[in-house]
Amino acid sequence: MALTNSSLVTIDDLSNGEIEGLFSLADNMSDSMKEQLGICQGKIMASLFFEPSTRTRLSFETAMHRLGGSVITASDIGATSLSKGESIADMARIVGSYADIIVIRHPWEGAAKVVADYAGVPVINAGDGGHQHPTQTLCDLYTIKKERQSIKGLKIALWGDLKYGRTTHSLIFALAKFGADILFFPSPGLEVPEHVIKKLIIEYGGELEKYGSPGQAVKDSLFPLDAIYTTPNSPHQLAMMPDINIEVELKTGVDALYVTRPQRERFTATEETQELQGKYPVVDKRLLKGKAFRKTLVMHPLPRVDELAYEVDADPRSMYFKQAARGVPIRMALIALLLGIKEISIPREDDSFIQKTDYPVYRRDSGIRCPNPECVSIQKTETKYIKSEFKVVDREPLTLRCVYCEHGFEPKYVASSDWHEGRLDNKIYHSADSHWAKKIRPENLIIFDSENEAEAQDFKPSQSVRAHHRRSDDKEEK
Ligand code: NCD
Repeated sequence: MALTNSSLVTIDDLSNGEIEGLFSLADNMSDSMKEQLGICQGKIMASLFFEPSTRTRLSFETAMHRLGGSVITASDIGATSLSKGESIADMARIVGSYADIIVIRHPWEGAAKVVADYAGVPVINAGDGGHQHPTQTLCDLYTIKKERQSIKGLKIALWGDLKYGRTTHSLIFALAKFGADILFFPSPGLEVPEHVIKKLIIEYGGELEKYGSPGQAVKDSLFPLDAIYTTPNSPHQLAMMPDINIEVELKTGVDALYVTRPQRERFTATEETQELQGKYPVVDKRLLKGKAFRKTLVMHPLPRVDELAYEVDADPRSMYFKQAARGVPIRMALIALLLGIKEISIPREDDSFIQKTDYPVYRRDSGIRCPNPECVSIQKTETKYIKSEFKVVDREPLTLRCVYCEHGFEPKYVASSDWHEGRLDNKIYHSADSHWAKKIRPENLIIFDSENEAEAQDFKPSQSVRAHHRRSDDKEEK
């Protein structure tokens, strides 16, 4: 099986079989490092890091050097033409004409997809804002597999900033795909985004049990449990006894505890204050004394700040330096595969815990834009050529998912392109949750962000939209 010329933008781009194949190749490569020197001779990797990085950039560059290839690099937007207003697409085309493979880290969510769409060479996402970081996930999964042989059935706890931590977003989908159960322990206010949860439930078919505040606490710790995701065919005790304490769920122990730092650079002002008030939970020796953590792998993508005590480093359960070191063979294997220099054999049957969903795609130019301020598709330099595009992931309520940053949202108004008898006075828009809206066939659906947008396109409000107006006017008068 060849992965030649494909890109790795999100972790969904690789099947379980491909990930396992890549791991065997990484094993082979680390057993015979010297023999790899030269396999990428004459090849050039562009390493574009427009956000700070130590591990990811240096391990990618080390990997390419160990394969005998060369590296060109840019690590400061200010030193590139992006700062002159050049678009990402133009930059991608240019770099793609110099290099054989591109590794990109960028603060905008969905930026790596744009580079992959325009570069004409394989592109690897090394982190796009708070969206995903698939190669970190490969290092994380590889570490779990090496230490525990299989991922299926393991209980993995994710700790800290689950809102902006891109490594956790990619990891969540990967763990679900491999059949692990996931326990979410976010720092208060930094819970997993709704669109990630929604995708997890719809596409990975498991069950999510949410716990409202006050979060269930593990004795002697700050552990606020937010939710548990269990993969299909994996009944868990809490689902059967919803009122029972979290300690029951933890009785069999947590297989891995994945700690993340607060992603301060992405915080809003309120989040910044909360975090500074010392609400961010810390993993230290005392916490790890708990029964649930007796055999737990303590993981962290690094860098750490205060959330993981240095006293844990000497503990044999600590895995984070191994995770980082394993980045080199993993990235060597990935580069060699995408360049078509190596192939992998994968089992014919794909045992991913994932439901293949072919959502209708909404591409009409009806003025609708992704509401995520960090999405690449709405940035001034990019709107000149990027057409907004969304997957219609649900009709009740109507939910769109941006194809770039994957944020989900529920637009308010819709119309049909097939208006009744073709008469212009039948050009009517409806509220997206009305029964009319549900009758519109996907291919006829027109979606609006606002009433102004609908009216600017000559649509008139339906009776129910007008009635809603009257009700709101009445309320205001009172
Ligand atoms: C992570 C990242 O950049 O998302 N670091 C890494 O690549 N190992 C995690 C982080 O910065 O917190």
